[in-house]
Amino acid sequence: MTASSDARFLRACRGETVDAVPVWFMRQAGRSLPEYLAVRERHPILEICRTPELVAQVTTQPVDRLGVDAAILFSDIVVPIQAMGIDLDIRPGIGPVIDKPIRNAQDVDRLRPLEPHEDVPFVLEAIRGLVTDLDVPLIGFGGAPFTLASYLIEGGPSRSFARTKRLMYSDPATWHKLMDRLAESVLSFLRAQAEAGAQALQLFDSWVGALSPEDFDALVAPAVQRILGGLADLGIPRIYFGVNTGPLLDRIAALDPDVVGIDWRVPLDKARTRVGPDVTLQGNLDPAVCLAPWPVVEERAWEVLRAGAGHRHIFNLGHGVLPETDPDVLEKLVETVHSWRP
Ligand code: CP3
Repeated sequence: MTASSDARFLRACRGETVDAVPVWFMRQAGRSLPEYLAVRERHPILEICRTPELVAQVTTQPVDRLGVDAAILFSDIVVPIQAMGIDLDIRPGIGPVIDKPIRNAQDVDRLRPLEPHEDVPFVLEAIRGLVTDLDVPLIGFGGAPFTLASYLIEGGPSRSFARTKRLMYSDPATWHKLMDRLAESVLSFLRAQAEAGAQALQLFDSWVGALSPEDFDALVAPAVQRILGGLADLGIPRIYFGVNTGPLLDRIAALDPDVVGIDWRVPLDKARTRVGPDVTLQGNLDPAVCLAPWPVVEERAWEVLRAGAGHRHIFNLGHGVLPETDPDVLEKLVETVHSWRP
């Protein structure tokens, strides 16, 4: 059964009244669920991503077990990058690793513009199947240009983003060319996901908080703007998320997303004053809180709910579920959020 456009997750995205605060968890599929780990024992992660039946199975697992209000497509932000001609692997416990990183203008030319129907048909097929079966909305997603560029340039995860920033500061023309190429491909990828039936879209700019507000404005915001603006006519919620974005929140709100993800570093009431009344906030329990005894988790969840005030709030973690999380805690969290009243 396809989810209704009246589902509480979608209502909250649009700022309409809800019967209970909706909740889902970033990285809810994968990581801690035993039924996912069982699939993972038999298939490498990128193989799961390329097989629509497996994508459908692991996307649905957290919905069935946890009772969350939305499903997120099982995939990874580097799936379209691989389809654009870049050799890469996802290593357990590390993340994406790229053989020949992008370091100059010629390297940028190795990135073919993405043609979603030819390059990632399996993603679109998985979405078409999922939306007919799921009874909660399906969130499609993509990585945002800065975060994708950081993997492409560093060749793997990074703390300082030194190589990324070196390129950004020393060769702005190449940097902008890379941002443009990524923005164009991510935009067509997300549009194709919406056409296949995704009912909301999340842009993961996980590492954008590494930038100063001025650099965000000059070097990254135009590419994000191009994506968010290019999705506006679809009429489905557009979610923008990054960690450490406290100092960027007013700038992010100015890019006009429907929903802004907030990590645990900024309480939701303070975030609200920085983004204004017309955007929905998504977050922001510290994922590490889920490792504490249940009374602590419950108290911290209530704090988040009170700061969100039950309006224009989607409960989530401030970043992805940690691998050591007990799924029973997530299940109880969903019940706690649903039973809370402002
Ligand atoms: O429920 C879901 O959210 C699953 C779908 C999903 C995955 N990756 C599968 C995955 C999503 C939405 C992502 C997004 C993603 N991937 C982001 C943005 C979100 C964020 O957490 O900031 C980023 C930065 C990546 C890149 C990536 N992929 C990293 C850093 C890692 C390794 C660290 C880790 O364990 O998460 C991956 C691997 C990956 N992608 C796993 C999963 C379930 C790990 C488990 C496995 O190997 O099976």
